[in-house]
Amino acid sequence: MTPSDVKATLSFSDGSPSIDLPLYKGSIGPDVIDIRKLYGQTGKFTYDPGFLSTASCQSTITYIDGDKGELLYRGYPIEQLATQCDFLDTCYLLLYGELPNEQKQKDFHKLVSEHTMVHEQMQFFLRGFRRDAHPMAVLTGLVGALSAFYHDSTDITNPTHRDIAAIRLIAKMPTLVAMAYKYGEGQPYVYPRNKLSYAGNFMRMMFATPCEDYEPNEVLVRAMDRIFILHADHEQNASTSTVRLCGSSGTNPFAAIAAGVACLWGPAHGGANEAALNMLEDIQRNGGVEKVGEFIKQVKDKNSSVKLMGFGHRVYKNYDPRAKLMRETCHEVLGALGLENDPLFKLAMSLEKIALEDEYFVARKLYPNVDFYSGIVQRAIGIPVSLFTAIFALARTVGWIAQLNEMIGDPEYKIGRPRQLFVGSERRDVPPLAQR
Ligand code: CMC
Repeated sequence: MTPSDVKATLSFSDGSPSIDLPLYKGSIGPDVIDIRKLYGQTGKFTYDPGFLSTASCQSTITYIDGDKGELLYRGYPIEQLATQCDFLDTCYLLLYGELPNEQKQKDFHKLVSEHTMVHEQMQFFLRGFRRDAHPMAVLTGLVGALSAFYHDSTDITNPTHRDIAAIRLIAKMPTLVAMAYKYGEGQPYVYPRNKLSYAGNFMRMMFATPCEDYEPNEVLVRAMDRIFILHADHEQNASTSTVRLCGSSGTNPFAAIAAGVACLWGPAHGGANEAALNMLEDIQRNGGVEKVGEFIKQVKDKNSSVKLMGFGHRVYKNYDPRAKLMRETCHEVLGALGLENDPLFKLAMSLEKIALEDEYFVARKLYPNVDFYSGIVQRAIGIPVSLFTAIFALARTVGWIAQLNEMIGDPEYKIGRPRQLFVGSERRDVPPLAQR
């Protein structure tokens, strides 16, 4: 990085000498002030819990303009990728920086499909879980377990090894998610079928049984593929930052991705799609569209902890562009299945309309995010609610591994080690037991 001619000057009201801090310009987006030498020069840290103003790395992968509601993967708008490319093209783009030409597309599809099976031993590992375990608990374990199968063969300082770890993860995630689902259902696992598309193969592993094969419905397969594209990466969100921080110690990449899966599970992040659908079902059970006004009142009440799930975003202060695409997919899928009058969809539209006009949401720039509609689409496809976040994890795996590999390949990379403002007890002596 080359610093710009502009410098930031930090001065103190107590007369301590001011210091100049270098400033870097991104290709788009806000400039950053380099504070790496701040502690050395002033003995002070910066304070930014929740990273509201902190760029934790430099990256060339994904760019979000939250005010405009714009999302770019390697410069390409999400709207173009979602309508002109498939998920594997998007994976290739995120990993290598460019869209594949025809030959590279063919080679990449073949490469990924050669790695779709998981070690047979994984079945026995799965058996240790209760059948009713949450799929995200199972997936955290399964992805972590992959590290045991590929430890000696994964040297993270070797770019070829990093690349093959990425391919293995992208190829095996659908198999693992489908296995977690089948295990919960008490059904036999369905092995991957490599001649199918990435999304088609996943849906077959989910819905086929030894008694009946799955006949792919093109609209539903395309919807699933779009869900994957829309969730593939989202710059330095909580789970991606977790993967980067975890991986910064030089750990096994499969273990770092398992940390990302664990982070994604939370309802403020990937778990929001499950929470949003549960919320819609709850309102539906308690009176439906008629009760929307009452529900919104609860959401706005400072003394209640009720949130409108699927609304709001740390970065988007405008309509999430993924939500627009997901809304369109929602119409397509419900249309194809003859479910245009689905009460939950109607309820979601009514909630959205009221919230978009309500002063509380307008003032706080709270708009629907991708999770508001993705749950309805997945439910219509036949995916159980508890599996929604696992599907998000499947799709986000490419983003996690692309970001992890970018970090390890960056000459400026260091182990992540935040500092703190300590406000606890000063040094004190342990009193004898009788005096405590
Ligand atoms: N419903 C009601 N009020 C909300 C909501 C919501 N969904 N989201 C934010 N607010 C209010 C919040 O109470 C606060 O109000 P006030 O200023 O009066 O205290 C204000 O808006 C700012 O919110 P914040 O919590 O400071 O914002 P944040 O950037 O820390 O949180 C968020 C972002 C996504 C965690 C939050 O909007 C939220 O919890 N949304 C619901 C969960 C959700 O849908 N998450 C999915 C995010 S998109 C998928 C992903 O990328 O993981």
